[in-house]
Amino acid sequence: MRGIILSGGSGTRLKPLTNITSKQLLPVYNKPMIYYPLNTLLKAGIREIMIIVAPERAGDYLNLLGSGSRFGAKLTYEIQDKPSGLPEAFVIGQNFVDQENVALILGDNLFENDFSKDIKKFKSGAKIFAKKVPDPERSGVVKFDRNKKAEKIVEKPKKWLSDYAIVGFYLYDHRVLEVAKNLKPSTRGETEIVDLHNWYLHRHELEVGIIKGIWHDAGTIESYYEAQILAKKKLHKQLII
Ligand code: TTP
Repeated sequence: MRGIILSGGSGTRLKPLTNITSKQLLPVYNKPMIYYPLNTLLKAGIREIMIIVAPERAGDYLNLLGSGSRFGAKLTYEIQDKPSGLPEAFVIGQNFVDQENVALILGDNLFENDFSKDIKKFKSGAKIFAKKVPDPERSGVVKFDRNKKAEKIVEKPKKWLSDYAIVGFYLYDHRVLEVAKNLKPSTRGETEIVDLHNWYLHRHELEVGIIKGIWHDAGTIESYYEAQILAKKKLHKQLII
């Protein structure tokens, strides 16, 4: 299993903090934000990791994380010229993923959950993860049928569909590379990760797991502030880096 951390983007909702640095390099309690998703991958047993960054910040990531050898990992870096959607990770990561399975994690997502069992068990298709939240309209949302199987997935639904938000950690087999290459941008000008999920869902090859513990997206000022508190109380204790 290969790992990709998506750490580009523009971080407009965190301006002016992000005028001079990348969102995922901002401190969360005592560590840069990216330590948290990196830690999640390492704890899950993933060692070959590609970090996708914006061109202006590439040097800062190299200075911070280097080769990854001190974490027991092999890190590689790729530039995303402009943020044109999460699925672009698989266009940029084409050679890196090759014929392997791949885990994608968002650089501003903090998890308490341990994904190692899911990764060991994963053979093919796609597996995404959901969590019951009070504000599902902020995220992609999954509706389950009576048998707890995923029935419908919608990005930021305007009308309530379900309380289960899709979190920023996803597993796919290598077919995702081809699917991502053929996606068309949505009306907001970006390719959408829900289109990848739906490709697998329509083939009955999408599994949705419910995660335990904290999941926190640190992308707004309010949620960035809350991330400090969660990290101090709990999350920093599980960092192995
Ligand atoms: P977002 O929070 O959706 O976008 P953003 O970081 O650009 O922030 P804002 O909306 O405030 O401008 O992105 C989620 C994560 O994915 C975050 O870690 C940045 C990353 N990302 C990329 O690396 N490339 C992309 O093209 C996009 C859309 C996001």
